[in-house]
Amino acid sequence: MDVLEILDIESSVSLPERYNRLSIAEMEERVREIKLKFGKKLFIPGHHYQKDEVIQFADARGDSLKLAQICATMDEAEFIVFCGVHFMAETADMLTKGDQKVILPDMRAGCSMADMADIEQTVKGWELMQETWGDTILPLTYVNSTAAIKGFVGKYGGATVTSSNAKQMLEWAFTQKSRILFLPDQHLGRNTAFDLGIPLEQMAVYAPLENKFEFEGDLDDVKVILWKGHCSVHEKFNIKHVENLRERDPDVNIIVHPECTYDVVQSADYKGSTNYIIKTIEAAPSGSKWAIGTEMNLVNRLIEENPDKEIESLNPFMCPCLTMNRIDLPHLLWSLEKLEEGEVVNQISVPEEVTKHAVLALNRMLERS
Ligand code: 13P
Ligand code: SF4
Repeated sequence: MDVLEILDIESSVSLPERYNRLSIAEMEERVREIKLKFGKKLFIPGHHYQKDEVIQFADARGDSLKLAQICATMDEAEFIVFCGVHFMAETADMLTKGDQKVILPDMRAGCSMADMADIEQTVKGWELMQETWGDTILPLTYVNSTAAIKGFVGKYGGATVTSSNAKQMLEWAFTQKSRILFLPDQHLGRNTAFDLGIPLEQMAVYAPLENKFEFEGDLDDVKVILWKGHCSVHEKFNIKHVENLRERDPDVNIIVHPECTYDVVQSADYKGSTNYIIKTIEAAPSGSKWAIGTEMNLVNRLIEENPDKEIESLNPFMCPCLTMNRIDLPHLLWSLEKLEEGEVVNQISVPEEVTKHAVLALNRMLERS
């Protein structure tokens, strides 16, 4: 990367100082004004993990699947200001038409899990897998991955998955090949495969840093190869939290996201995607008690929106996803004011040669969801 490229990235992430001096009311008023001015030319999707100060301005709220589905059909908006993380904005760019511009208000809004699989490691690991098992493997990637990984998966006949459809996508994948490589979240992969009846003894972990498998047994028995990645937010729930809660109050229902570890998921009463968690809490009877194992902005919103239920986090010291939190009101306003001035900042634009394969992977998922 040359100096000019570095300067370009730095200038695109730095928020002008004056935004720190505006009051919340002033910023909210300006966002409202700009939204009104742009009308249908502007669309703001917001992931459920976004802070309230941002999600209040979302034209659509959703989990990763819903937001991808909406972006795939949203053809009237010229500008899509994505309130979520980088891989979601990339997905939106790949699913929208060429003249639609996708903007991420803060380029630092990445995802530590997506960063755990890069394309060079994937190509190297795939070679080792082909040497070990031959042409028996179909790659699947959680949408929480870079566009390049989605492109790789699309090229080799595989698909993307989200936590809402991982089970049906894995079932489909086994109709294509006898083994599955699941990137980059080992926990979602393990939890989903176990749900389908595949024993843990038939799952190997691929460690990209060492380019080797973590597996004891006969490699011929392996059905699922789990990429050694994880979500640093959902890994903050552990079995001790479950035990403490059960001891304190046996009437509390425990519900967790499948990005949590296998033992946490097994010991919970309910498990499922962001959408499933929201729907389950909304439908729960008044007075019921819930401990939720997922991101904290969402848990706080569920507490606020369901005052008739007793809701808490499964981990009493839980915090929000820090990269999701990079998108805040000042950055949202800044990107909108720039649009008003006729300048597009922080545009997410995936190269065509990556998009053409990645879209195959995304469409294989969208057709089955
Ligand atoms: P879902 O939106 O698919 O539930 O994923 C949760 C998540 O971690 C998003 O980054
Ligand atoms: Fe990534 Fe986890 Fe944050 Fe989701 S919650 S964006 S998977 S780090």
